[in-house]
Amino acid sequence: MTANKQLLMLPGDGIGREVMAVTERVIDWYAKYRSLQFDVEHDLIGGIAFDTHGTPLTDSAIERAKQADAVLLGAVGGPQWDGLAREHKPEAGLLKIRKEMGLFANLRPAVVFPALAEASTLKTELVSGLDIMVVRELTGGIYFGEPRGIDDLGGGERKGFNTMVYTTEEVRRIARVAFDLAKKRNGRVCSVDKANVLDVSILWREEVIALHQEEYPDIELSHMYVDNAAMQLVRDPKQFDVIVTGNMFGDILSDAAAMLTGSLGMLPSASLGAEAGGRIPSLYEPVHGSAPDIAGKDMANPLATLQSFSMMLRYSFDLAEEAQLLETAIERVLESGLRTADIMQDGKARVSTSTMADAILRELDKAAD
Ligand code: IPM
Ligand code: MG
Repeated sequence: MTANKQLLMLPGDGIGREVMAVTERVIDWYAKYRSLQFDVEHDLIGGIAFDTHGTPLTDSAIERAKQADAVLLGAVGGPQWDGLAREHKPEAGLLKIRKEMGLFANLRPAVVFPALAEASTLKTELVSGLDIMVVRELTGGIYFGEPRGIDDLGGGERKGFNTMVYTTEEVRRIARVAFDLAKKRNGRVCSVDKANVLDVSILWREEVIALHQEEYPDIELSHMYVDNAAMQLVRDPKQFDVIVTGNMFGDILSDAAAMLTGSLGMLPSASLGAEAGGRIPSLYEPVHGSAPDIAGKDMANPLATLQSFSMMLRYSFDLAEEAQLLETAIERVLESGLRTADIMQDGKARVSTSTMADAILRELDKAAD
């Protein structure tokens, strides 16, 4: 018997808690029918952590996250915390856990389910069959660069500033993740930067090229400026296989890529760190936010979080077959015409979060028979 997998759940705020509850039902299913045992612990992150402990992420939560085999996070944020100082805001908890766990590689797949191709705001033929992977650097760049701040210049003048910074090693380790993923996919990487303007991007591009020549000559590498990449994503997204880019560009482009698929409510993500002692620190979360407007109304789409869990099965536990079970169940439920509000289409049946969850579990039951 292998030891139970240690899973830390951080549901967070808003719909985070509802979609996590659905995931717990699925985890119970795996325990019951697939003898896949998780020891699940819970902790707080975001606004609820601030309300309870006065900080969006406690040191003890960080410690538990570091000890766990994997972390599953819901979402953070809500209007009631908008007025807080930056270090107390829910988002600060998210940035802190990424940094503390060393999660430098953020994988954001944008995959269009056949049943949802028509839900995209783009023409169906542009997105049907779309399968791209955005690899976003997550612990560096302008999000964390120093110096940063707001200076008082006197006389009513102020200066706000941040620093966009990347080192050789930071660029190479994220590029390596992208090249390795491309090997298992269609063998193409597009590196996105702003090397026509920014020094940090000139270095980024040079390092990506050098690593490519040294270690990945078989991968097809291209480069794109970020403004062009944004345009190409909505013009002809299927030209991409793996996109690799820095923290802020990746934040922006991954939202655009996500929307190609019809709904943010469908997209999972994985954030991975460097291997140490045979373990890779990992955190999985849906790309969508806490959606305070629909929180508590049994309306949220749980599929992004369920897919984040299936990414966990694949990436953290090497359980591709188990992951496939869940992914197939999701596909079947979508094919059967059930839709949460965010992906509702004419002629389909609009259902609540819990009805969607029931349907997923029924499909899983069928697979287990
Ligand atoms: C994301 C989010 C976060 C980010 C925010 C909430 C801090 O937009 O995960 O993409 O900018 O990284
Ligand atoms: Mg974002």
